[in-house]
Amino acid sequence: MQVLVTGVAGFIGSHVAHALLDRGDTVVGVDDLNDYYDVRLKQARLARLEARPGFAFHRLDLGDPDAVIPALRGVQFTRAVHLAAQAGVRYSLTNPFAYVRANLMGHVTVLELCRHMPGFEHLVYASSSSVYGGNTHMPFAVTDRVDQPVSLYAATKKADELMSHTYAHLYRMPVTGLRFFTVYGPWGRPDMAMWLFTEAILAGQPIRVFNHGKMRRDFTFIDDIVRGVIAALDHPPADDGAPPARVYNIGNNRSEELLHMIAVLEGALGRTAEKIMEPMQPGDVEATAADLTSIHRDLGYQPTTPIEVGIPRFVAWYKAYHGLT
Ligand SMILES: NC(=O)c1ccc[n+]([C@@H]2O[C@H](COP(=O)([O-])OP(=O)(O)OC[C@H]3O[C@@H](n4cnc5c(N)ncnc54)[C@H](O)[C@@H]3O)[C@@H](O)[C@H]2O)c1
Repeated sequence: MQVLVTGVAGFIGSHVAHALLDRGDTVVGVDDLNDYYDVRLKQARLARLEARPGFAFHRLDLGDPDAVIPALRGVQFTRAVHLAAQAGVRYSLTNPFAYVRANLMGHVTVLELCRHMPGFEHLVYASSSSVYGGNTHMPFAVTDRVDQPVSLYAATKKADELMSHTYAHLYRMPVTGLRFFTVYGPWGRPDMAMWLFTEAILAGQPIRVFNHGKMRRDFTFIDDIVRGVIAALDHPPADDGAPPARVYNIGNNRSEELLHMIAVLEGALGRTAEKIMEPMQPGDVEATAADLTSIHRDLGYQPTTPIEVGIPRFVAWYKAYHGLT
């Protein structure tokens, strides 16, 4: 199968592309390689993909449909995994337009590309657990109301779900949205807590612990996420009268205390962190926990990696990547 993967130089996108190539699919990768975080990391992920047969790369900004649509004319794919986005909750307070461009305009660009692709079968796209905002009923279920986002990032992800539903309704285009819950692992993101903590602890610097550590997250290991994304891609929603649009949570099956995550990280690093307790950050949420009932029922998704296994694997990769012993 020929699959478009957007955000292919990103953390999740690069892993998904490798998994697709592993099983013999061909991958058309798109990314703009922007400098939201260290571009060398994106280039390093991309270099590993470009060494593989069946992979083609197009450097394009999806926020610019006038450039993207002609550049991809003649490129064939039947399914798509759209992961390109401006990610991160905190940055959306300082650079709102980056979110509008990448997550709203970029999303419509992908919807239009897919809609006009002959024989197109299924679009899987990234949403986020952030859409649950300040909801306090745990675990978060896809049937819960999500119309009170607490960050612009979350608002754009909810808008992506709405726009995707519209395309499923108007054009009978099968779409599946995945609400990712705090993904971590090798080749991860330098703006996320796990990386920032690791970097600081190894440098002997203090770490900033928000909401005085009273936070819980469904930390989900990348290999579990990749299995879920591929399962979703392989199961387009049926067109049975209702629009062929689905949204699923994709997380781990337990929500961890932030201080427990730090303790596991300290164990893996063999060092103790100096913790600076700080108040809650604007736009952030205190806890996330995923109700996985529907993704388990429909796609057989079952995460298998506890943080006690996943964090040491992240640390081992982090040290190797940075040439540390
Ligand atoms: N990692 C997580 O914990 C998490 C949680 C919830 C949702 N998500 C979502 O999952 C998706 C993938 O996240 P990730 O962690 O791999 O992030 P990432 O930042 O590593 O990857 C995103 C990639 O998209 C590219 N990109 C951004 N804007 C673009 C544009 N306009 N045109 C083309 N490429 C563009 C970036 O260069 C980057 O390589 C994103 O949509 C993100 O919002 C991730």
